[in-house]
Amino acid sequence: MMQCLDGQSRKDLQTAIDALRRGQLVAVPSETVYGLAAHALDPAAVRKIFLAKGRPWYDPLIVHLSEWSQCEDLALPDPVTRVLADAFWPGPLTVVLPRREQVPDLVTAGNSTVALRMPSHPVFRRLLQESRLPLAAPSANPFGATSPTRPAHVRNALDGRIDFILDGGACEHGVESTIVKVSEGRITLLRPGPIPRSRIAAAAGIPVEMPKPPPREREVRPEAPGGLERHYSPRKPLRLVPRTTLESIKEDGVARLFLTPFEGLSEEDLVLSPDGRPETVARVLYASLHALDANPSIRTIEVEAAPAEESWDAVRDRLSRAAG
Ligand code: TXA
Ligand code: MG
Repeated sequence: MMQCLDGQSRKDLQTAIDALRRGQLVAVPSETVYGLAAHALDPAAVRKIFLAKGRPWYDPLIVHLSEWSQCEDLALPDPVTRVLADAFWPGPLTVVLPRREQVPDLVTAGNSTVALRMPSHPVFRRLLQESRLPLAAPSANPFGATSPTRPAHVRNALDGRIDFILDGGACEHGVESTIVKVSEGRITLLRPGPIPRSRIAAAAGIPVEMPKPPPREREVRPEAPGGLERHYSPRKPLRLVPRTTLESIKEDGVARLFLTPFEGLSEEDLVLSPDGRPETVARVLYASLHALDANPSIRTIEVEAAPAEESWDAVRDRLSRAAG
């Protein structure tokens, strides 16, 4: 049985710290999604993350920090990284940097880079500060499944596989951090997230480049069928459809998920953002997918396709991968 610890309790926080020091796993709240944390410099502990998630060894982990000096201990940050850290840390930005030797190969999947992030969630932050440990943490879900944004999601997915969860309430952003790679003074976007590309470019004073070839092209290349990775997916089939099509679908067992409100909405329809904002959609998206997965009267999930605008990048990215 997984023990639930209260993020507000000193005693429970110490229990989490002791468990991490012993090399155990603790699910932790972050401002993006819940993470599954282990002492990043303890390979035996990190190994447990891969086993609990069923995660392939080639998929590297993000290391979470509480101070800049840890970034210098684990990686070789350049001035561009320092600017990004000053602008966005603590917060939902992950930076991929040239690594130092002492980061275990398991964490980086043997790459010459390591992904670092300083989270802002007060409970996670306190855990990092008081333990003084760098913590490797992927999202706390089985590999490929929908990320957890509430403690109950972690319990449903990983009970019996991990010992502890630290309860820090519902996650503020609801989608995973923005990931950029910083190399030779250039910034490349690896995953859209809560911090938009344009804000990163404005803070750094240089453009944020898109990876080449873009993931989409790689996916359709016939010689790389394995690149077609389903991710962030509910167990039930999920399909993306234009709003006008979605409005005309009326079928038992089909959930209609609209992003923003409109006239003529029927009672059983779900609207992810009453205010029409992409940030609001992001906050509740995974929780809605978890709820539909658990609802026995729903067979398939039909979701309104997100607009092509930058502010929708994170939601559009997660939805297209969930639809696989
Ligand atoms: O918001 C988040 O980022 C959450 C919370 C817990 O911090 N974590 C998260 O971790 O989403 P995960 O493992 O689910 O996704 C991390 C992504 C993976 O797709 C991985 O391939 C990529 O980061 N990544 C990690 N290290 C990398 C590296 N050295 N180079 C390129 N990509 C890397
Ligand atoms: Mg994940």
